[in-house]
Amino acid sequence: MGRKFFVGGNWKCNGTGEEVKKIVSTLNESEVPSEDVVEVVVSPPFVFLPLVKSLLRSDFHVAAQNCWVRKGGAFTGEISAEMLVNLSIPWVILGHSERRALLSESSEFVGDKVAYALSQGIKVIACVGETLEQRESGSTVAVVAAQTKAIADKVSNWDNIVLAYEPVWAIGTGKVASPAQAQEVHCELRKWLHNNAGAEVAASTRIIYGGSVNGANCKELAAQPDVDGFLVGGASLKPEFIDIIKSAT
Ligand code: G3H
Repeated sequence: MGRKFFVGGNWKCNGTGEEVKKIVSTLNESEVPSEDVVEVVVSPPFVFLPLVKSLLRSDFHVAAQNCWVRKGGAFTGEISAEMLVNLSIPWVILGHSERRALLSESSEFVGDKVAYALSQGIKVIACVGETLEQRESGSTVAVVAAQTKAIADKVSNWDNIVLAYEPVWAIGTGKVASPAQAQEVHCELRKWLHNNAGAEVAASTRIIYGGSVNGANCKELAAQPDVDGFLVGGASLKPEFIDIIKSAT
């Protein structure tokens, strides 16, 4: 079964209104493979979502960087899935390692968030990944499997989930996983899905890589059989994001 290449741009907590407009106009002017070949989703900070959505070309889509775990209400500072639906935001990133580490989001909490966002009709980029310490102790596969299980425990339909493997040691460090390292973990994740969610889920779920992806290293990573795209941080703010989109072909 063909899995359409997926390139996400996570802008994290960056940008002014003017900078955001400039990034969008660079994207709008770019010549990239068609929507049939690559799905492009950019994720600005919440406050810029309506602006970006209104200016962005129609073949690219937007994602929020988080949403609340259940229906909105008295949760100061949070943004609910219902609000994203109200603004026609189709995607959300959940379980990013920065939120797991800095805001103590547990795997169970992430699983609940994924399930709630999906129940509201929002598609999810769900992130998993090991720390350097975990990799060095040989527990990479166990860690990402446990993080994936916490999602699978709450979700039966994987149609609207993209799984992002983002080793923490590679994020924002310039120390990208080698193509072989990425392929090995993606292959293990696909096996895990096969054994725990079924052959069809394993064959159809996109598993994308994130962590210091740039215009120079994307081609070789994209050539790996189980790498179905990227979740890009720093380089998604720069024109080289277009080269990363082009690595789909
Ligand atoms: O969500 C994106 C990842 O955290 C990767 O960030 O490309 O800046 O390493 P990075």
